[in-house]
Amino acid sequence: MTEEVLMLLMDRDATLTEAALRNYYTEDEDIKELLDSERYSLFAGGKRIRPLLALEFCHLFGGEDAAVLPFACAVEMIHTYSLIHDDLPCMDNDDMRRGKPTNHKVFGESTALLAGDSLLTGAFEAAASNVEVGSDVAVKAVAYLANCAGRYGMVGGQIMDLAGEHRKLSLDELLKLHSMKTGALISAACVMGALAAGITFRDRCMEDVVTYAENIGLAFQIVDDILDQTGDSQTLGKNVGVDAERNKNTFLSFYTVEEAQYYADQLTAQAVAAVESYPNSEALVALAKWLATRKK
Ligand code: IPE
Ligand code: IPE
Ligand code: MG
Ligand code: MG
Ligand code: MG
Repeated sequence: MTEEVLMLLMDRDATLTEAALRNYYTEDEDIKELLDSERYSLFAGGKRIRPLLALEFCHLFGGEDAAVLPFACAVEMIHTYSLIHDDLPCMDNDDMRRGKPTNHKVFGESTALLAGDSLLTGAFEAAASNVEVGSDVAVKAVAYLANCAGRYGMVGGQIMDLAGEHRKLSLDELLKLHSMKTGALISAACVMGALAAGITFRDRCMEDVVTYAENIGLAFQIVDDILDQTGDSQTLGKNVGVDAERNKNTFLSFYTVEEAQYYADQLTAQAVAAVESYPNSEALVALAKWLATRKK
């Protein structure tokens, strides 16, 4: 698949996801500030990589858009909450995200905190209310998502990230941190996509889904670390150079940019190898390769 076709597919899946996300909101004047704050970040123009992964893994196994969209929305809501909280002054203290001032800069810290809480809770409502799949599938998906988002996943990774501001981590600790703070939600997206298509954890192919997800997940955060040093803030939509400023442990604490990129390329090759023998895997192959060389 050419990059041009991949971009068209990304647009298609993002448009579908955004339409579905809007359906979770109805106006209520009394909580307008909260709704506006959530939607400010949710519709600020993220790349929608996680929904794309959910949709394309569902398609890979013959599933329909309608079955996976609630799961895709759930993961994007949790991802967006994680970014709002990640940017707070008590966390990374950032003032630009998705090309706009960060949520707390516009709505204040208390509203930003609550917008994150509400997106997190709303995600589980969306996933559990997926009527297009059987309730057994919805329960399994919700449990998997909770595990990936929580203490043994994204939140656990974030606490390791913050603790690492005050001490140097070993490479093993950094690999664990990256896999938890970023890889886990990416795994949730891929696995929930497969679940929506009727694949179960007993099916052998689920191992390939997880192998792909874990490899692109780690590669994704390595590239994020590289872009923080070499990227362009206008293109990225967020400030650069902040990891060094905050004394973060990143891949570049261990490797040069070239070595880190090589590491990401190796992980990408392993991800590609896990799925390329499946018919119709072209989109997932092209996506893994694009993510390794992305500029935003
Ligand atoms: C940024 O994620 C935070 C990380 C986990 C590295 P993305 O790069 O997917 O951010 P958006 O969704 O496109 O804004
Ligand atoms: C964020 O990692 C991972 C999350 C769970 C939000 P970073 O702190 O490196 O993400 P950016 O660079 O601010 O997007
Ligand atoms: Mg952070
Ligand atoms: Mg950050
Ligand atoms: Mg970063």
